Amino acid sequence: MKLFSSVNDVTDIKQLVADALHLKQNPYGYKHLGENRTLGLMFLNPSLRTRLSTQKAAMNLGMNVMVMNVDKEGWALEFNDNVVMNGTTVEHVREAAGVMGQYLDILGIRSFPGLKDRELDYSEEIFNKFVEFSKIPVVSLESATRHPLQSLADLVTIEELKPRPWPKVVLTWAPHVKALPQAVPNSFAEWMCKAEVDFVIAQPKGYELCADFTQGATITHNQEEALTDADFIYVKNWSAYEPYGKVIPGYDDWMMTNEKLAATNNAKVMHCLPVRRNLELSAEILDGPNSLVVHEAGNRVWSAQAVLKKMLEGL
Ligand code: CP
Repeated sequence: MKLFSSVNDVTDIKQLVADALHLKQNPYGYKHLGENRTLGLMFLNPSLRTRLSTQKAAMNLGMNVMVMNVDKEGWALEFNDNVVMNGTTVEHVREAAGVMGQYLDILGIRSFPGLKDRELDYSEEIFNKFVEFSKIPVVSLESATRHPLQSLADLVTIEELKPRPWPKVVLTWAPHVKALPQAVPNSFAEWMCKAEVDFVIAQPKGYELCADFTQGATITHNQEEALTDADFIYVKNWSAYEPYGKVIPGYDDWMMTNEKLAATNNAKVMHCLPVRRNLELSAEILDGPNSLVVHEAGNRVWSAQAVLKKMLEGL
């Protein structure tokens, strides 16, 4: 595997999930695979889980890891070609990514969207330029439109804990005070659409995701109906795709509560984290027996390790 940017880069999803669950039982079984190999984790945006879990995954495989908060510790990057760099940017991505490719065997990059220009964000310009100019295998640590390591961990969690062979999984929009990217729900949707689950997306009118990511999903504006008989509920806020990056007010009652769980099949509640308590999800759910959020974050290690293992095997 030379690129992990979406579910489309995976030839056998079931096998990758099985690999992650195998690594969970056997974390150090491939300790020599990463010997004398270096992973670089480059963050243009903040992170807790992705940074620590991917670092731990690489260390379990015997890799060396370099981490850099490029946005704070690096030179201001220029991504446009044919510009006179007489402004605030100091280094072009052509040189920066090229140099990273000299030091690293695998590059991880986090590049959030600006949420101003949809065409630009959905072109994945920043992520794709790191792929092009580093010339080494690249893993997405969350790009403008997708978060595949998160989605793989989510699928691993569902596979591990499903109460029946074809569980009902509901992605439900939640309120937030800020405009958040669509990367996590886009990605979760495209992974679920390829998984052995009954997948439903519930969102208020106006929060429809880009249809490219939701082919095969049942989409509804009726949260109560969607939650009926659900086995897993994935709670997440996102900003509108159209008008792009906007927050449409008036949907505070979409917060997930214990009361809403009553209609479900004693559903387990998931969230990628970080979560705003009592805004997206009630504290009573987060602190109660139905919450999977910490367990799910734990599975980030095994999803990252399964992907890095595949990349190392291809070097
Ligand atoms: N879920 C997730 O990616 O968490 P971080 O942003 O903290 O990495």
